[in-house]
Amino acid sequence: MIIEPKYKGGILLTAHPEGCKKLVEKQIKYVKNNKSYNGAKKALIIGASSGYGLATRISLAFGGSKTDTIGISYENGPRGKRTGTAGWYNNIFFKEAAEKEGLKAKNFVGDAFSLEMKDEVIKYIKEEFGKVDLVIYSLASGRRKDPIDGETYISALKSTTGDIVGPTVDLKNDTLIQQTMENATEEDIKATVKVMGGEDWELWIKALLEADVLEKGARTFAYTYIGPKITYGIYKDGTIGAAKRHLEKTAKELNKILKEKLSGEAAVSSNKALVTKASAYIPIFPVYATLLFKVMKEKGTHEGCIEQTHRLFLDMIYGDNPIIDKEGRYRPDNLEMEEDVQDKVNELWKQINENNFKEISDYAGFKKDFLQLGGFEVEGIDYSKDIDLETYAKLIP
Ligand code: NAD
Ligand code: NA
Repeated sequence: MIIEPKYKGGILLTAHPEGCKKLVEKQIKYVKNNKSYNGAKKALIIGASSGYGLATRISLAFGGSKTDTIGISYENGPRGKRTGTAGWYNNIFFKEAAEKEGLKAKNFVGDAFSLEMKDEVIKYIKEEFGKVDLVIYSLASGRRKDPIDGETYISALKSTTGDIVGPTVDLKNDTLIQQTMENATEEDIKATVKVMGGEDWELWIKALLEADVLEKGARTFAYTYIGPKITYGIYKDGTIGAAKRHLEKTAKELNKILKEKLSGEAAVSSNKALVTKASAYIPIFPVYATLLFKVMKEKGTHEGCIEQTHRLFLDMIYGDNPIIDKEGRYRPDNLEMEEDVQDKVNELWKQINENNFKEISDYAGFKKDFLQLGGFEVEGIDYSKDIDLETYAKLIP
């Protein structure tokens, strides 16, 4: 089968296994050629198959202390004409590379929000893996079944300050179009907090503590985004911002508990805006990203997932130069937030229109990153080659 990128709006529907493999290898190579740090011995990464979670796993295993990892994700393998999801392949190729170096790399594919998943992972830690000293919470999901009330909550990417009209990129037609982010209902806000807030992170940490599978000094981090003023309407003051505030509140509560019980730590890390499966889907956000990339690439400070994540662990979490704000948040987004960067982004934001967006923004870079989420547009891959999905279907994550 010849696999081509198929996408609808900001969602990729196909994935190319060879491209995914190459990109996992590229990230591994990046951290191997970089400075390393004295990091976790055994880590649990919730949301490990793509974006920030995958970069975290790679940095820890190949650029840290050769960390053994457990990765949880929600992905699908190939079936019939369906290619399977990129994260499915990322799990497989990460594991292959880690095991080759003698590391433990266990994948759990299923619903991290469920109690069954928590039980299964805890059982594995107790019986085979050993206590963990780092837990990373990097989930991004559109829905969550609350295991306690049994209800399914659907998160919404909406505003709370009235309808917002703004530009967005039409990736199919390579045009700039206007998009409306609608105003949220109370119900939308509540549901988004349920899905993307800290409730599930808290359930995980409490379950791990209860089962006594956290090492003394264990630390846990969840990823958030704060972003500059220009994105407040769609992010910080939107439904997702409400959820992230809940996540931050949870971090403070968990920090108290972990400190007291294990001399451990819980915090959020505010990461840079990047193209991932989750962020490509946020209305209007892509245009901000195309302008940010342009400015940061010109300044020489642009980072992708692996560069950003590796710096977070190397300099901050396991390093001597943490940037922590007065709210206790780690701030690897410091380069995105620099004043001159944001001034330029603001200037370009005022100018951008359907005629000039390809010149004044890094639309090309953004689109390439987007296609690479599915393993497309990767150098050295022959996309005209027939891919035997049945062979790939036999690989076990
Ligand atoms: P992503 O879509 O690449 O990763 C999400 C991960 O969650 C995947 O591994 C996916 O399989 C997993 N997942 C989703 N639902 C699941 C479920 N029910 N059970 C198990 N696994 C499930 O997204 P990302 O951008 O890497 O997001 C990770 C975190 O980083 C989020 O909290 C996000 O808000 C934050 N963040 C993202 C950006 C950005 O610009 N992309 C910036 C700062 C912070
Ligand atoms: Na992730």
